[in-house]
This record gives sequence, C-alpha cells and structure tokens, in this order.
Amino acid sequence: MKIISTPIELKEYLSNSNKTEGFQGNHSVGFVPTMGALHEGHITLIKEARKDNEIVVISIFVNPTQFLEGEDLDNYPRKDEADKKICELSGVDILFLPNANSIYGNDEVSILAPSVRGYVLEGFSRPGHFNGVLSVVMKLLNIVSPTRAYFGKKDAQQLNLITLMVKQFFMSVEIISIDTVRESDGLALSSRNIYLSKKEREEALKISASLQIAAKMIIKNIVDSHEIINKMREHLEPLEIFYVEILNRDFEIIKEVELENTVILVEVKLGETRLLDNIWL
Ligand code: PAF
Repeated sequence: MKIISTPIELKEYLSNSNKTEGFQGNHSVGFVPTMGALHEGHITLIKEARKDNEIVVISIFVNPTQFLEGEDLDNYPRKDEADKKICELSGVDILFLPNANSIYGNDEVSILAPSVRGYVLEGFSRPGHFNGVLSVVMKLLNIVSPTRAYFGKKDAQQLNLITLMVKQFFMSVEIISIDTVRESDGLALSSRNIYLSKKEREEALKISASLQIAAKMIIKNIVDSHEIINKMREHLEPLEIFYVEILNRDFEIIKEVELENTVILVEVKLGETRLLDNIWL
C-alpha cells in the first residue's frame, strides 16, 4: 500500500499508474473518502470499491470546514495506526493522508450547499456544515479523478447533496451508495459511537427500533407519514429529537410513503453526541 500526503504527489502517482506498460486504456479507480476512525462500515465501502475497480484509493482527512464553531473537531477520534492496518488488510492500494494546508491553503473559493436542501434537517442544526462537506468532496474528487466514489447511506443528506453536486457540475464520477452497517443489536455504525456512555449506548437503540416500528407499520399498509412519524416520536421519547422526517429520494416531504422512493430519517442527541439513522424504502 502506497501512502501519499500531498495532492500533487497523488495526482502524479495516479497518472503514472495509468501509463503502466502493457495496459490498455485507463485503470478504473474506486475512491472512498473518509475522516478516519475506520469501522466495519468503511471496510464495506472499501470492499465494494475493491470489487469494482483496479485501483482503490482511500482518503483520511478530518475536514475542518465541515465542523461548526464549538463542535468536536479537536476531539474527533483519530486512530492513524489502526486505520493504516485496516486499509492494508482491506486491500487498499493508495492511502491519501493530506493535511489541511495542502487541501485548503489560503482558499477564497468554496462550494455552497443549496439553501433549501442544505439547510434543513442536519443542515438546520449545523448551518454551513454541508458547505464544508461539498467543498472538500469536490476537491478530493478533483484530486483523485475516480471512476467511482463510495458513500454510506447513513449520511443520507450528505449523499443526496453530493449526488446533486456531481450532476449539476457535470462531474465524471459515478456515486455509489452503500447500505448502512449495523451492530448485531441494530445500532448503526458511526465513528462517533465511541463518545457514548454505557447508558447512552443503550438508549441509542431506540433509534433503530423506531425505524423498525415505521417499517412494520408500512408492511401493514399504514403509509400516512404523520401517523408513522408520531409513533416513531412516541418511541424515541424522552430522547432529544432533532428531527424525524419522511422524504422522497429527492428529499422532498411526502404525505404518504411511496415504495421504492422513500427515506425515513431520524437524528437525536444523546449527551453531547448527535446520532443519525435512516431506512430507504
Ligand atoms: O462522511 C464523511 O466521513 C465525510 O463527511 C466526508 C464525506 C469524508 C467528507 O469529509
């Protein structure tokens, strides 16, 4: 596994690997952008990238522009050595480990998330967060120029905005979305789960359970969004709920669940930790 820490070096390395003797045409490149503290969810993204592409690149970069003032930027879990091992064992070819200066320098340009889609739900409690996400993802995609880039469905709003950006800026990359990986008791994997105390970890199970309640109602043909949201909220209480929403795949509010076109999303706060989860129907 090759470890590279500057955008220029990575661009050069990738363009040289395309000139490998005897190879016809360009290599396909699968890219997995992450902020590190890798878990089974990231490993699934890497494995998918490995299946579909000749070269697999992963970036680990705790992107400062997507953290708001007072958020957990300084405490965000960093596990460099363990992450390197995981990358090696999962068959990563290139690990990109840039620092903030090499990514941002003295930039004056940034990408803005759309004002409606980017400032509702998670964007409402974290105004500006998605500007940082889109800016860094645009930069990373331009550095790596991947054939395909892999994102988890757990960050559904992020996935929706990145897909929109790639389409609207005519970028030549296929965005591949991958199902959420869960603990055996249902908790969605997240690097932030390590912040949870034992009691909070137990309470967090209400999140996936509330989504299960929604799924069961839908199986019984109860499709009224209001009714489903109320039941979910009842189950989540007394947790601090940021939102429970039923949207279509374009992230518009829908009055009734539409099969194959619905995302049910929850965000709660447990102690100081925000936890997201969702199901796609
Ligand atoms: O989902 C993440 O880990 C981050 O938001 C991403 C996409 C790597 C951008 O920093």
